[in-house]
Amino acid sequence: MENTYLTKKDVIKLNKDTYIVTFENIKFELGQFIMIETKNLVRKPFILGTWNNHPAISVQIKGKGTEYIVKTQNNIKAHFPLGKKFIPPSGKGMVIISPTCITLANLITKEYNCDVLVGSKTPLEYKIPFEFATGDVEFANKVEKLKKYDWYLISGSKAMENFVLSKIESNNIYVSLEEYMGCGIGACKSCAVFTKNGVKHICTDGPIFRRDEL
Ligand code: FES
Repeated sequence: MENTYLTKKDVIKLNKDTYIVTFENIKFELGQFIMIETKNLVRKPFILGTWNNHPAISVQIKGKGTEYIVKTQNNIKAHFPLGKKFIPPSGKGMVIISPTCITLANLITKEYNCDVLVGSKTPLEYKIPFEFATGDVEFANKVEKLKKYDWYLISGSKAMENFVLSKIESNNIYVSLEEYMGCGIGACKSCAVFTKNGVKHICTDGPIFRRDEL
């Protein structure tokens, strides 16, 4: 694991409150995440992905810490890569995500055969190369019309995840749980989840899990 300062490259506004932040080169595997330190505030986890051929995260501004990550001109102190590599099953996949996981979706499409549906609460202000829906009604319509895929990855709010899970049936559904982490390195135990296979830690056993394991 590296513990170093990252140079921000670009900041792209996606919608009202969510931004893609790209970095100079760092090494990581699909499904891994990064913990970013913010001034006087707790570390924050972000699933890693790519944008414009650069490592990237997407950040929803929810408070001072996330605002700092988006707006600072300084290098950002970060710990990475963390978590387990995600390897989807064979066949064609469907990645259903909120804008906060768009860089992950982008990376998956580069490595695996899959489609992407992005559900955004507010209109996108930036052209993305994926199918998207704005607002709950349009998103629900698009999810209900999805064809059958061999595997699914869902990453967004709990409400979004529950809605999608109520509409699809598959033995190969994966969810990303990165929002629940404290230290990111297996030390604080704050990310423990009870699974069918015993207690797991999101930061070391995840952040992407099979849904039927949870
Ligand atoms: S976040 Fe601390 S143990 Fe997982």
